[in-house]
Amino acid sequence: MRILGVETSCDETAICLIEASGEFGPAFRFSVLGDTLASQATLHAQYGGVFPNLAKREHLKNLPVLYEAVQKQVGGVKPDAIAVTVGPGLEPCLWTGINFVQRLADESKAPVVGVDHMEGHIMLSMMAHGKLSDFEFPVLALLISGGHTELVVMRSFGEYEVVGRTRDDAAGEAFDKVARLLSLPYPGGPEISRIARAARSAGGPRLYNLPRPMLHENNLDFSFSGLKTAVRRQVEDKSVTDDERAALAREFEDAVADVLVGKAMRAIDEYGINTLVVGGGVSANDYIRERLKTALENEGNIAKLLVPPPELATDNALMIALAGYFHAQKKEFTDPSSLTADGNLALG
Ligand code: KG4
Ligand code: ZN
Repeated sequence: MRILGVETSCDETAICLIEASGEFGPAFRFSVLGDTLASQATLHAQYGGVFPNLAKREHLKNLPVLYEAVQKQVGGVKPDAIAVTVGPGLEPCLWTGINFVQRLADESKAPVVGVDHMEGHIMLSMMAHGKLSDFEFPVLALLISGGHTELVVMRSFGEYEVVGRTRDDAAGEAFDKVARLLSLPYPGGPEISRIARAARSAGGPRLYNLPRPMLHENNLDFSFSGLKTAVRRQVEDKSVTDDERAALAREFEDAVADVLVGKAMRAIDEYGINTLVVGGGVSANDYIRERLKTALENEGNIAKLLVPPPELATDNALMIALAGYFHAQKKEFTDPSSLTADGNLALG
């Protein structure tokens, strides 16, 4: 089955056509036939974050161009089904993808699947080399993106139980806000990570001592806004040197990593988890990946770690096509005219 994925939930417009076969499990195989992505990151950088109406306008402009580009890559072959992100995300942006897919479906008569963006992140992280990685349920998904920080237990494909979540800012949001405080450009994650790495390899002393919010509380929830405030206190009304900025970035990244690792390990223990799947934009962070890997090794590899290829950790359309196939195969189609954007769509 050829399935087209369309993603417009935030500031990436992306379209991907895959060929997929087999039941979702060991027999599942896929290959990417055509793939395009237009990132608006530089456009939003001047606002220090995503500006929804501008993002919507860009999606509207990009969608037909990207679709044409994919059609060219695949020699005009049409999809057998179309998957589109319906949430969570910015509603004006989600609607651009939905309306575009409604028109495509109308022309092609291909059936349509509405996809949860976060399910897409999970599905993509479970793949390697055109198939599902070897792993065992129960799975714990640690979802860390610009809008979400969640721990999700999966006992089988498509079955989700959210067991932990952030009470305020998401991990990626904290990276972006702290980057702004440190006068680093949007998106902040890669920038903070870059200067934190330099500070670590320079090996200087630990200059700051930021909190590890909720780390020792007996629950699986997160909170990152206090961490951001603690960074603000260090920089407001002061001029910070480059070395101080790098030291703060390092301490911030350490604090986020400590909390993510601590909570993930607690959930692994509590739910008898066999596989830890990490997904969402922040999972591109090498330091956080490394810390998770070391924590699992120190516990005798109690769970297998699955992470996405770094270039596919942030938003893309392959993840939507993959989740779309999962539902298409179960014939979970939606009448295109009843597709609705849900900015707060939640798993489970
Ligand atoms: O999944 P994603 O592309 O979009 C959402 O669904 O939100 O995640 C974007 C987030 C941004 O907050 C960005 O700063 C963060 O992922 N991010 C990173 C890194 N790369 C992207 N955070 C930390 N380290 C990175 N290397
Ligand atoms: Zn995302």
